[in-house]
Amino acid sequence: MITSAPAAAEIKTCCAALYESDWARLLLGESFHPGGLELTERLGKLLDLRPGQRVLDVASGTGASAVYLAEKFGCEVVGIDYSEELVGQARRRAQEAGLAHLVRFELGDSEKLPFPDGSFDALICECSFCTFPDKHTAAGEFARVLRAGGRVGLSDVTRSGPLPPELSGLLAQIVCISEALPSDRYAALLEEAGFRIDHIEPHPEVLETTVRNVRASLLGAELIFKVKKLEIPGVDFEEARIVAASAARTIEEGTLGYGLLMATLP
Ligand SMILES: C[S@@+](CC[C@H](N)C(=O)[O-])C[C@H]1O[C@@H](n2cnc3c(N)ncnc32)[C@H](O)[C@@H]1O
Repeated sequence: MITSAPAAAEIKTCCAALYESDWARLLLGESFHPGGLELTERLGKLLDLRPGQRVLDVASGTGASAVYLAEKFGCEVVGIDYSEELVGQARRRAQEAGLAHLVRFELGDSEKLPFPDGSFDALICECSFCTFPDKHTAAGEFARVLRAGGRVGLSDVTRSGPLPPELSGLLAQIVCISEALPSDRYAALLEEAGFRIDHIEPHPEVLETTVRNVRASLLGAELIFKVKKLEIPGVDFEEARIVAASAARTIEEGTLGYGLLMATLP
């Protein structure tokens, strides 16, 4: 996707702001990707993470995955995110888990990673690659910061055809739908950056569950807000319901899905 510089910066800022909001946490919970920590564990196993390895979590959000990987696999994890607020939350999470010696978080942009060449053994990027305005540059940055033989594990929303117009608003962005690509396009972007694709694993069921949970949370939130006669600025419950219902249909038809992709830097 070709985007002018100000438009690209605006997209990143909007995406980060969206995930800082209480609204995102209300609808998505602690882990901001379909499949939650269970799918993160699957990614960790596919990447064969081990104690002593250095892992980069690109777009680490609230740090739930980074902390989980360090705890589960004993590896050292660095998380970077575009949102200062989320980096702060992630640092607190690592402290509270007693894992600050293994996990640290920094402010950064996936398209300009603040690390020297070859500094990591593995890299993960969960439900975020699809939101990056310049995916080509981001994939190149993944390759640059990994050592030779290093591995990347992506988990993202996949799209195999055109989406209905209602799937381009706020809720569609929250669940990473609007900018999703077919899985072979993600693979091609990584190959262009020099990676060899090892494994592609579809998981449409996790997106289905996420959208079902979002619809349930929306109903609950709407009820509470109606009873208390409150309004959330910028949130139209009726529109959100339409978007969620359309997303559910599109997943059922097979146009939207979710998947893991693993690749190695030869
Ligand atoms: C859907 S959330 C996923 C967060 C985390 N990976 C997870 O699975 O819980 C998307 C994240 O991407 C971050 N983000 C968006 N654009 C970014 C960029 N250009 N560089 C780094 N992080 C970015 C947002 O701030 C947000 O935390």
